Amino acid sequence: MIRAKIGGIGYYVPEKVVTNHDLTKVMDTSDEWIRERTGIQERRYAEKHVETTSTLGVKAAEIAIERAGITAKDVDFIIFATLSPDYYFPGSGVLLQRAMGMQGIGALDIRNQCSGFVYGLSIAEQFVRTGMYKNVLLVGAEMHSCGLDFTTRGRGVSVIFGDGGGAVVVQPSEDENRGILSTHLHANGDGAEQLAYLNPGSHGGVHFEDKERFGYPEDQEFGGIFLTQKMIDDEDLYPNMNGQAVFKYAVTKFPEVIKEALDTNGYTAADIDMLVPHQANLRISQFVQKRLGLADDKVWNNIQKYGNTTAASIPIALCEAWEAGAVKEGDLVCLAAFGSGFTWGSALIRW
Ligand code: UT7
Repeated sequence: MIRAKIGGIGYYVPEKVVTNHDLTKVMDTSDEWIRERTGIQERRYAEKHVETTSTLGVKAAEIAIERAGITAKDVDFIIFATLSPDYYFPGSGVLLQRAMGMQGIGALDIRNQCSGFVYGLSIAEQFVRTGMYKNVLLVGAEMHSCGLDFTTRGRGVSVIFGDGGGAVVVQPSEDENRGILSTHLHANGDGAEQLAYLNPGSHGGVHFEDKERFGYPEDQEFGGIFLTQKMIDDEDLYPNMNGQAVFKYAVTKFPEVIKEALDTNGYTAADIDMLVPHQANLRISQFVQKRLGLADDKVWNNIQKYGNTTAASIPIALCEAWEAGAVKEGDLVCLAAFGSGFTWGSALIRW
C-alpha cells in the first residue's frame, strides 16, 4: 500500500474582524465572559451576499493546490466538509468544483461537523493508499455568521463560532515512513441533539416527542413538516447546544482518541512534536494539553483570533503552524477533533 501525505495546505479567513466588544452591542454578553469561558477574543465574519462557504473554500483550495505543486486540472477528487453549506442541496463540493473549473471529477460532501476534516482526511487517505487517486482535494469551510442567533437568547452558541476555510491536497508519499500514519474515527449518536441545528428537517418533531414545538401539521396528509410556519414564527431556526454536556464528553474523548493514535503507532505523548486540536474552546485544549503532559509549544491554539470554525478549524490551525515553521519535515503531528454527532477522531502524521 502506498502511504498518503499532505502535499499542500492553505487557509483563508474573511477580512472582517468581529471582536467580543462588537457582540456586546447586539446581545447581553461581555468580553470577560467570552474570554474566560472560551479564550476567544475575536472572530472573522464573511461578507454577506458576496462570500459563501464554497467561496471561502475556493480561496483556501487555491493556495493548497499551488503549494502541492499541481494545478486545479490535476485534482482527481474533491471532498468538502461543512455544516454550513451554500445550499441545503446540492453540496458545496460541486460549487467549488464549478468555480475552479474542475468539472467531471467526483465531488463528495461530508457532514461530520467539527470532526469533518479528520473524517475527510481519512477518506482521502484511503483513496490515495489504494492507488485510486493521486491528488485528492480536501476542503473544510464554514460560514457560520449567516446562521447564528445574534439575540441574547442565542449567546451561548453565537459568540463561539467564526467563519473560514482550510484545504489540503492529499497525495502519495515518496517516502514510506512519512505521511499519514493512521486515522481513527468514532461517533455516538446518543448525543445527536446535544449540539444540533434541527430545522428545517424531515423529523417533524418525531424524534423529540415534541411535536408541539415544531408545529407538526396533523391534519395534512402529505408534506409540510420540513419547514413549518411555527418554526419560522418561533424563530426555531438556529443551532442549539448543551454546552456543559458537550464540554464533558469532549474532554474525555480528545485524550482517548489521541492515545488511540499514539498506541496504534507505538508512540507516547512525549513523542508528539505538534498537537493540532480542533479549536472548540481554549479550556478544552488546555485540559487536553495538561492531561497529555505537553509543553506549551507542542499545542497549536488560534481560537483566540478565529473562534470555532468547525470543519475549517484544524486545517487553518495546521496551516498556520506550518507557515510559522512550528510543523517541520519529520515532525510527529497529531490532529484531533470532537463535535456534533457526537463525532470524534484523530490522525497521526509523520510530516
Ligand atoms: O466545536 C464543537 C464542540 N463544542 C464545544 O466543545 C463547546 C463546549 N462547551 C463550552 O465550550 C462551554 O460549555 C460554553 C463556552 C459553551 C459555555 O460555558 P459554560 O461555562 O459551560 O457556561 P454555561 O453554559 O454553564 O452558562 C453559565 C452562565 C449562564 O447563566 P446562569 O444560568 O448561570 O445565570 C448562561 O446563561 O453564563 C450565561 N451565558 C452567557 N453569559 C454571557 C451563556 N452564554 C453567555 C454569553 N455571555 N455569551
